[in-house]
Amino acid sequence: MKLYDLDLARGLLLAPLSGYTSWPMRVLSRRFGAELCYTEMISAEGLLRNTRNTLSLLNRPEEDAPLVAQIFTTSPRYAALAARIIEDQGFDGIDINMGCPVKKIVGKGAGAALMRDIPLARSLADAVVNAVRIPVSVKMRAGWDSGSVNAVELAAALEETGVHCLILHPRTRTAMYKGTPQWDLFATLKQSVSIPVVASGDISTAPDLERLGTLGADAFMVGRSAVGRPWVFRELSGGSGPSVDERRELMLEHLDMLGDLYGRDKAAKFMKKFVSGYVRGIQGASTFRSHACNAATFEDLKGMIKALPAGPVSVIKE
Ligand SMILES: Cc1cc2nc3c(=O)[nH]c(=O)nc-3n(C[C@H](O)[C@H](O)[C@H](O)COP(=O)(O)O)c2cc1C
Repeated sequence: MKLYDLDLARGLLLAPLSGYTSWPMRVLSRRFGAELCYTEMISAEGLLRNTRNTLSLLNRPEEDAPLVAQIFTTSPRYAALAARIIEDQGFDGIDINMGCPVKKIVGKGAGAALMRDIPLARSLADAVVNAVRIPVSVKMRAGWDSGSVNAVELAAALEETGVHCLILHPRTRTAMYKGTPQWDLFATLKQSVSIPVVASGDISTAPDLERLGTLGADAFMVGRSAVGRPWVFRELSGGSGPSVDERRELMLEHLDMLGDLYGRDKAAKFMKKFVSGYVRGIQGASTFRSHACNAATFEDLKGMIKALPAGPVSVIKE
């Protein structure tokens, strides 16, 4: 299928996950079948102010493509200016965040708060669509709370601006990440617009893709199931799970890439967020996890990973 002017064979996307999906996670996910990735959300204002931390979110090696950059803001003017910077840097698309539920973001009127201000949401999309030639998408939730589920209404306004596709995580802002996402909303949304609809929310197995396909989803975005588990994309394509040896090699590679990106001290801390996923289901996982969490340095953590017992595969459950 075509998405952001790209031909995708299976429609498998890696979700934007702030604090996780910097280029090392993206590069590993691609190796296992993620066909398109997104940056973490990027402040449009931060980008325009050239804030170092914000600019670093645009960092990527050549192999990290195709890539969509996601921005958040409440200012149509800043959104348009940030979009031009992103376009100039060779990204394949721009996504506008209208789903982030975090207080710091919604408190400023951005992220999911835009679902309560459709005229502003529409102006933002309009400004970005008119500022760049690359495709523009919007990632949204079901609505603000269970009494105001308005994804269909927002989608209609956005489609009129010329956005190229919509990504829906069908939970409300107040639900945050709890409870079951309302997958049926994909079908309702799909019937209400003529642009592609990407599904997000608790996708982790091949049967999930099948069910979402029947609901009309054009592509599938995987987030938390890919944290420390880049092979989820291989499994979603019918491939095998990983051996312990494969997990060990991937962890070492991931740690080294994080070292390149953040420097060794920060990389060791950062890697601890992924360790749990990498060892889930293997014998001795909980001991390894607690030792790894206490690793004092990059080298300590690396040594612990190297010492993970070699095969035979001792996967006890997945
Ligand atoms: C830690 C964390 C960070 C996230 N960061 C972003 C973000 O930067 N931009 C965004 O649109 N969604 C973000 N999300 C939402 C995910 O992209 C996704 O829509 C949601 O987690 C549901 O999908 P999943 O069940 O596959 O994780 C984040 C979610 C989590 C848990």
